[in-house]
Amino acid sequence: MTVFNFGSINIDHVYRVPHLPAAGETLASTGFHSGLGGKGANQSIAIAKAGGKVVHIGAVGPEGRWTVEMLAQAGVDTDHIATLEIPTGHAIINVDDAGENAIVLFHGANTALTQEMIDSALTQARAGDWLLLQNETNLAFQAAQAARSHGLKVAYAAAPFVADVARRMLPVVDLLAVNDIEAAQLAEATGSDLQNLPVPEVLITRGAKGATLRTGGGSISVPAFPVQAVDTTGAGDTFTGYFMAAIDAGWTAREARTQAAAAAAIQGTRAGAAQAIPDKAEVMEFMKGIA
Ligand code: RIB
Repeated sequence: MTVFNFGSINIDHVYRVPHLPAAGETLASTGFHSGLGGKGANQSIAIAKAGGKVVHIGAVGPEGRWTVEMLAQAGVDTDHIATLEIPTGHAIINVDDAGENAIVLFHGANTALTQEMIDSALTQARAGDWLLLQNETNLAFQAAQAARSHGLKVAYAAAPFVADVARRMLPVVDLLAVNDIEAAQLAEATGSDLQNLPVPEVLITRGAKGATLRTGGGSISVPAFPVQAVDTTGAGDTFTGYFMAAIDAGWTAREARTQAAAAAAIQGTRAGAAQAIPDKAEVMEFMKGIA
């Protein structure tokens, strides 16, 4: 099966800072690097590195072609990534000494996607494939509707959280992925606890506290792997991507979450987003070391 990922592609500008800046504060960074990021791109790379088949649907500007090459090198099908005369999306990311971050986004080409791009990519899709979405592009709801009409299942990572968008998406989603902060925001926005959301499966990632999958049959949790975090940017995307690749390959939910938790743990021990995502061999090795 294939995961069609209708997702953002960003150039991440990452500043290492002694602490996250307060309002009005000017702070000198102690380090800087740029690299590939964006929730969509990170998830596509994670799916490919996990051995999954992933077609990325998105857009960059002319100066961002290198990001598409990086996706292709990781094994992502990039045939449906357009180059537009609009700057590539970017993110300004501050990372403190505990590995925590604060992110400012510029959407750029990520919000210039068209219905035509969606329709063109989905002509390749087969019933039973997945469409994966996040909240960093335009047309997420339309993409979900189109996917459903082709018989695809829809997975939606409701990040960054936008209450109105998330509320609208719920009826067209088969699998909802949220972190614990987004879960609380969603509960407040809908007035419903996660048990009662009208979505067949809900995956909640809780960082160092592990992850829980709620299905019709109840909920199962897996613990996180304890590691010394260096930079958690993209760790949630790594979890989602590895999880999608595993369920798409027919793994059980427990196996999928354990492998995803291991991949996210490794990713958080390294600087950067996409560049820090481990391949499957590394994840297997790590899990052997823990067992
Ligand atoms: O989830 C991490 C990602 O969020 C970063 O790579 C950044 O680009 C933002 O989209």
